[in-house]
Amino acid sequence: MTNAVHDAERIRERKDAERTRRRKDTERTREQQDTEQIWEPSSADPPVLVLGATGRTGRRVVARLRDAGRTVRAASRSAETPFDWTDRATWAAAVDGMRALYLVAPADPEPIADFVAEARAAGVRRFVVLSGRGVHRYGMALEPSMAEAERAVREADVDWTLIRPNSFSQNFADDLYAAPLRAGLLTLPVGAVAEPFVDVEDVAEVTVALLTEEGHTHRTYELSGPRALTFAEVAAEISAVSGRPTRFEAVTAEQYVADLIAGGMPEKDARSLACVHVFLSEGHNSEPTTDVRYILGREPRDFSEYVKSVAAAGIWA
Ligand SMILES: NC(=O)c1ccc[n+]([C@@H]2O[C@H](COP(=O)([O-])OP(=O)(O)OC[C@H]3O[C@@H](n4cnc5c(N)ncnc54)[C@H](OP(=O)(O)O)[C@@H]3O)[C@@H](O)[C@H]2O)c1
Repeated sequence: MTNAVHDAERIRERKDAERTRRRKDTERTREQQDTEQIWEPSSADPPVLVLGATGRTGRRVVARLRDAGRTVRAASRSAETPFDWTDRATWAAAVDGMRALYLVAPADPEPIADFVAEARAAGVRRFVVLSGRGVHRYGMALEPSMAEAERAVREADVDWTLIRPNSFSQNFADDLYAAPLRAGLLTLPVGAVAEPFVDVEDVAEVTVALLTEEGHTHRTYELSGPRALTFAEVAAEISAVSGRPTRFEAVTAEQYVADLIAGGMPEKDARSLACVHVFLSEGHNSEPTTDVRYILGREPRDFSEYVKSVAAAGIWA
């Protein structure tokens, strides 16, 4: 499908979704509106609760909202507002007075629906949920928390927007990939698949737009970088820019699991990580999308820019 046809279809789908949303809004009875604390689009600064606020996306979302002068509550177990998915006593103070929320799902999906209900009862109306590209294919089997977070907001009477990013460019600066790259060889069970890695800065900027602008209710966005690279191309680019020779070699899932276990990872985690990479290897997520451009009005950041900035910081030296 060409980009033009793809864009036209998306615009038509979004217009349909917008019409449905407007109809639902008008169907809401006046009695409900009088008794509920509702999302007020007219409010210039509806307070935003950011979960996972010390994480890769959350801390960037917090920083960008604060730079824009917005009222933000940064929450996680170690953030300024204590919030623990496993300790329900921390939920009420975190959601109190908030109107919009960035949801980074916990490892265990069990508390998600209850939390969404509690946040809604406290007056939160807008939910932007971090999910992952392909979650509709593997869902509960591989990433149960992201699938459950999507389900929970869809089934609650709230304004939700889902983001499903590709693999983050920043994964290559985390030790799972960075340590092997520094040692000269990254091995993964991904074959020769290409992936349009997305920069977490773009994910954060999109998230801020979805939390603060109108027109994204009940929409799902797939966020990718502008071009797909194989892992061998990534290693070659990192070698060239960092000056440290490194390469990529595809391995079987069983070999990968054995290597991770030998490195000290519990078998369950190793198997689940292998499954994620095997899913990637099937190429369902390889096509770049136009959603970052649609939301931000500019192209997503290219992988080369990311590599240059990280190499300058000495991550792979
Ligand atoms: N990596 C990728 O390529 C990729 C791509 C698409 C989607 N994703 C999805 O992105 C999500 C992770 O987001 P991220 O990368 O922004 O976060 P992250 O860097 O993995 O950090 C996790 C955040 O969650 C908080 N947290 C952990 N346990 C918690 C608990 N019990 N209660 C409350 N907060 C808790 C942590 O803070 P504290 O330790 O202070 O609590 C931290 O702020 C995952 O669902 C992943 O599947 C990742």
